[in-house]
Amino acid sequence: MPKVFEFITAERLKGFLRQYFNAFGGEVFFLGASKDVLVKFPEDAREVELDARPVFLRDSPIGYVAMQKGRPGSLDFIAENLSNVIEMGYEIESLSGEVARNYEELSLLWGISSRLGSGLDVDRICRVLAEEVMNLCPSTNVSVMLAVEIPHGDAGASCLKSPAPSKEPLPAFKKILVPKVSLGKDASRASTMTFSTEGGLLGHVFDTKEALTVCDVSEDSRFEGFPYSVIRILIVPMVSEGAVVGMIAANDKLNGEEYYSPEIKLLTSVASECATSIKKALLYDEIREMLFRTAEAFSFAIDAKDPYTYGHSKRVSRIAEAVAEKLLLPPDTITWIRLAALLHDIGKIGVPEDILHNAGKLVPDAMERMKEHPCIGAKMIENIKRFREVARWICHHHEHYDGSGYPSGLKGEDIPLPSRIITIADTFDALTTDRPYRKGLTKEDAMRIMREERGTRLDPAVFDCFEWIATYF
Ligand SMILES: [Fe+2]
Repeated sequence: MPKVFEFITAERLKGFLRQYFNAFGGEVFFLGASKDVLVKFPEDAREVELDARPVFLRDSPIGYVAMQKGRPGSLDFIAENLSNVIEMGYEIESLSGEVARNYEELSLLWGISSRLGSGLDVDRICRVLAEEVMNLCPSTNVSVMLAVEIPHGDAGASCLKSPAPSKEPLPAFKKILVPKVSLGKDASRASTMTFSTEGGLLGHVFDTKEALTVCDVSEDSRFEGFPYSVIRILIVPMVSEGAVVGMIAANDKLNGEEYYSPEIKLLTSVASECATSIKKALLYDEIREMLFRTAEAFSFAIDAKDPYTYGHSKRVSRIAEAVAEKLLLPPDTITWIRLAALLHDIGKIGVPEDILHNAGKLVPDAMERMKEHPCIGAKMIENIKRFREVARWICHHHEHYDGSGYPSGLKGEDIPLPSRIITIADTFDALTTDRPYRKGLTKEDAMRIMREERGTRLDPAVFDCFEWIATYF
């Protein structure tokens, strides 16, 4: 198709020629780049002794307008007028292309945002991103990698290109790229690769923070080699607040085409959007990790008050987490149950040691002091806004399903489910570990005793679930 028709239809061009014919009274022709007649008016106009003038688009001739010799003034006017018309068509075409690309970009970003929701889960964000890249540019492989800090000298990077020797002292840590999600033909091999951020194509993108596409990697000395076949590659950095948090690498589009610049621009926007979410999610993970480390330190402090219960809180936490997972509770709830189980006996800090270490049967007063520990524990943490629910679960971890427990005598489903889960985990660990007054029971004996308490002390449904997975403890 002649290029001029990309910006004006033959029909519309003919309309203009008719107007010129009516205005100037002469037959008008539009010629292509090789001066062949593309459109003319009237239809039966004869192409003899023509004068032609170029019609320009962006300073380059896109065709010619011609009339019979002897009409130079009219011809100059028509050539200029048609140049303006075609230029306008070009502008409209560019603008509509830009609008379409912007719309595509916005709808993609909107799609990703709605898929991500408000969750802060790094794995999920990376998976959504990899899937969207695969949808946008179907490729043989797509990998989303995260930049991870490791100590210098660690042989963590398996596809490293050694950096040039330097006299500068090495920093204590370096960053490598670790695949988080790999999709495509070679996904299993891609998921085991790690890359240095020093040198190579990925290192180049890491340093420049600019996307890069290479049409044939065999001709680029920076290519560090992949454990599978690659010809074309696209690497897009995920940049948040000036730092590279990860990279997207895609290779060899399934339709055999190269990676075009509108796609690269689009992927760069998407990568930057996800980089911000990933950074937030990593920060959230870090805070959660710190929270758990602190809770663990507290639990060690509680357990250390009594050598017989050393490690009790951590074991209870592990069992409670497994039961919660088996009950298919939401991941967030499972995390909080894990934390509540770690802290369930934190209130024992307020119980005198002579009562805690008493080897015999506690006298009623001492028993009453001991029974205060769930409430003391709950009070210790209930002022932390996000811990209010956890405080309630801790408060009720000695309630019995039949209502005979303490501190509130709650019954059945009135006892929070996480508390019922912790009760079962707590009971199992208490029965199977040594106490001052008896040796720890075997798992079979402990299960037999607990089975007898099913429906009285213990929630029957939660116990059945625990029994299902008890072989693993
Ligand atoms: Fe307790």
